[in-house]
Amino acid sequence: MRLKLPTIHPQGRFKRAWDAFILLITVVAAIVTPLKLAFQMPLTGALLALELIITACFLADMLLSFVTPVYVNGQLVTSPRGIAKHYLRGWFILDLLSIFPWALLGSVWGGMRLLRLLRLAHVAKFMQHMAKENVINYSVLRMIFLGFWVALFAHLVTCAWIALGGGNIGPEWSSQNGLLYLRSLYWAVTTIATIGYGDVTPVTPLQTGFTIVVEIIGAGLYGYVIAIFASLIANLDSARRKFLEQIDEINSFMRFRKIPLHLQKQIRNYYDYLWESRRGYHESHVLADLPDSLRLKVSIFINKSMLEKVPIFQGAGDALLEELLVHLKPSIFTPGDYVFRAGDVGDCMYFVNNGRVEVVSSDGKTLLATLSPGSYFGETALLLNQPRNACVRAVDYVDLYTLDRLTLTRILEKFPAFQDNLHELAAERQVEHQR
Ligand code: CMP
Repeated sequence: MRLKLPTIHPQGRFKRAWDAFILLITVVAAIVTPLKLAFQMPLTGALLALELIITACFLADMLLSFVTPVYVNGQLVTSPRGIAKHYLRGWFILDLLSIFPWALLGSVWGGMRLLRLLRLAHVAKFMQHMAKENVINYSVLRMIFLGFWVALFAHLVTCAWIALGGGNIGPEWSSQNGLLYLRSLYWAVTTIATIGYGDVTPVTPLQTGFTIVVEIIGAGLYGYVIAIFASLIANLDSARRKFLEQIDEINSFMRFRKIPLHLQKQIRNYYDYLWESRRGYHESHVLADLPDSLRLKVSIFINKSMLEKVPIFQGAGDALLEELLVHLKPSIFTPGDYVFRAGDVGDCMYFVNNGRVEVVSSDGKTLLATLSPGSYFGETALLLNQPRNACVRAVDYVDLYTLDRLTLTRILEKFPAFQDNLHELAAERQVEHQR
């Protein structure tokens, strides 16, 4: 009888929880293994149990890797052969080396136990994964991981220093492992950070050589960490930074061109509104790289609430809405702006997404209507092929969506029911207008 294994999804809950657990075990192993070597702890009792648990977990992880489907070039590989091939070519050798029970081979092979640290490569993979999942801000994530690597490096240097007998500088320190570690960590941190007080110094040639190596790596690492942190902090909120840069540029331009103060104020208010309403993102720029189908889905999600507000679209089929959404273009008007004036030639119609507009007679004296979100205007000129029959101006900041004549004509041809509806309403407005 063939054993039927339950299928594990590579992005499923179980696999995620397992990966997190293995990550924890990896970190524990990376901390404990060098400590054991540095203090030459005998492998008995609790330490032996820990060693066995770590080995068992890593072994289980390897076995699991042979049965977990994987994504290769975007395709899910589920065949046992395919999965095994992928694993054997990828992480297998590394995992095998890190799991090998070197400790049981005796003290000569003791140093090989450090191969456990190879598993840390999985931490780097995990980091990439987290970055893609967008769990937290990428910059914050990188800072956390960089902190982790630096701390681990300091730990390894500390353990090596202890192993070389470096931390052993007096009877009061050498008697207790904890204090010895603390003293050695102090040496490691001051050396890596290139502070080097010189109160703990190398004595033997080996210690001196090691100190030189750590100093050289430390100088590089220190500079690298500072540079990375500086750029990460600067990038923490890249949308806001970009937006502020844009405002800076506009401000200096306005000063240079001596733009009147009231106009400057209007421009700044407009930017405030941009930030409030869309966090400075230009939707079409941000989504430009997406394939059409995905862009449409995002567009539907973002604009659904707008379309739901428009009565003539209620009951319109998905096909019509999709066609509309692809062609709608956002535009913003500031308070008092005229969207157009009576008599203008019309080449598009408008949907109100946010804010209010006023429809006023051509002489500007009679208020014909105030349109709020969900209303539309500018259809009459297109449908009846005539100039705009009234002026329309923004009351507050208004977010409008425009639909050009060509697209409207195409949509009307494709969706006759919608055409009738729109014509009817246009005729009503026209009559009302002529009264
Ligand atoms: P259009 O003629 O293209 O440009 C002016 C727009 O104002 C017009 O289309 C209608 O959409 C709108 N409009 C005109 N009169 C009224 C009205 N009485 N009530 C609401 N909207 C109107």
